[in-house]
Amino acid sequence: MKIDERIVERLKKAKKAFSLTGAGSSAPSGIPTFRGNEGFWNNKTPFSIRAFEENPQKVWEWHQEIKKMIKEKDPNPSHFALAKMQKFFKDFAVITQNIDNLHQRAGSVKVIELHGNIYKNKCNECGKVFGEIDSEKIPKCGKCGGLIRPDIVWFGEPLPYRALMKARVYAESSDVCFVVGTSGVVQPAASIPLIARENGALVIEINKEKTVLSEHLDFSIFGDASEILPELCERLL
Ligand code: APR
Repeated sequence: MKIDERIVERLKKAKKAFSLTGAGSSAPSGIPTFRGNEGFWNNKTPFSIRAFEENPQKVWEWHQEIKKMIKEKDPNPSHFALAKMQKFFKDFAVITQNIDNLHQRAGSVKVIELHGNIYKNKCNECGKVFGEIDSEKIPKCGKCGGLIRPDIVWFGEPLPYRALMKARVYAESSDVCFVVGTSGVVQPAASIPLIARENGALVIEINKEKTVLSEHLDFSIFGDASEILPELCERLL
């Protein structure tokens, strides 16, 4: 696949960069994406605080199932390529919508999780945070007795403030932004590449197909992220 020479030239001059990743970057690891033909949401009710309040035990069980599935998967070449980019740019961060911890497992150090992490939990009442919990029965908080829930962002919930602010700083001060494997339909994550472009960053999309963001970005490279990103790395290192 031909990577436009102008992209490589601009990347070689860049000092600060980030990537915004979505489910498409983990798809080659065997984790289903959310939308599209085999999309995760196709036969499930999207997770929401309301679903949790109506049936906390069921929602807890769903997340234990998802965690079990994710645990069996490994990072793919797109994760390793983004980890390699840390060596190339003076400052590089991965801003992810994914909850699967695969960027960290591939060696990425600066990972900003916009939608939380499936291995982390918190009390639904007092907010006390907990690490990984393996339990069939929904656990209770030892501090206040409240129900413990996965520390991930469900529909209708605000994003973690600190993560959002960190992401905004990268969007406003980077030379390059890679938009990898996201449909760009979920806000506020989908606005981050547009903020980066408004602030002068070169924005490059890597996706199997055209998205709602494509026409607003500088370049779109259509194909599998686990093939394109390693090739891009080859051209840089
Ligand atoms: N390489 C590159 N892109 C891919 C690949 C691949 N191997 N496989 C799929 N894609 C692309 C699809 O074309 C699609 O544009 O990845 C995108 C996945 O889109 P979604 O399923 O909508 O996932 P995402 O954009 O991450 O969803 C955002 O929505 O459901 C919520 O909280 C959830 O974080 C998630 C958010």
